Amino acid sequence: MGGLFISFEGIDGAGKSTHIEGLAQAFRAQGRAVTLTREPGGTALAEKLRIMVLNDAMDAMTEALLVFAARRDHLQQRIEPALARGDVVLCDRFTDATFAYQGGGRGFDLQMLLILEQWVQTVQELGADFIRQPDLTVWFDLPAEIAAQRLTGARVPDKFEAQPLEFFRRVSDGYLNRMLACPSRFARIDADNTRDAVWRDVLQAVQARGWLA
Ligand code: TMP
Repeated sequence: MGGLFISFEGIDGAGKSTHIEGLAQAFRAQGRAVTLTREPGGTALAEKLRIMVLNDAMDAMTEALLVFAARRDHLQQRIEPALARGDVVLCDRFTDATFAYQGGGRGFDLQMLLILEQWVQTVQELGADFIRQPDLTVWFDLPAEIAAQRLTGARVPDKFEAQPLEFFRRVSDGYLNRMLACPSRFARIDADNTRDAVWRDVLQAVQARGWLA
């Protein structure tokens, strides 16, 4: 069976984690090998870059370059080999997060992000170049106000979690614009719902594509 690449997106507090774990179990129960990973991160180098991106003050371009540098290493060392083996790759955030956080949240130039996306995600398969994108992106859509309530007191906030409500509204708009640019890649999940209802919708999005029974 061919590899499958699914990314998971949403503003901080949208509640992705338990569902990513649940999907990993569902795929494994059907005999698929699963690579569970995240961005920024997923390799030793990218995890070092993650610590800088989440903690150190820097301008938006530096942030964008670091997340794309982490992504390049992640793609080459981890994602592409896993897809070549036929794994299901479940990735907690990918490039849509850069468009949402650095583009929407920080207001960084979207044209420059598109160029970086093309450079960094160009990979070779059977001698031909193409731009790697997730086969499916599950977007946990949650109003910024509700996400902020959920995060209150949950843990010490990192640099992004400490941003004001207005930042997360722009991040949400960033996700929406990415979905509108490529609707067939996205499953938009209403994350303002019970955990069971959200899980049902996540499962349904994957089943509808024929990837899980
Ligand atoms: P998380 O793994 O806990 O969701 O945190 C990662 C944080 O990094 C989250 O606040 C979103 C942010 N981020 C970016 O700003 N740009 C990116 O490209 C990625 C992948 C994440």
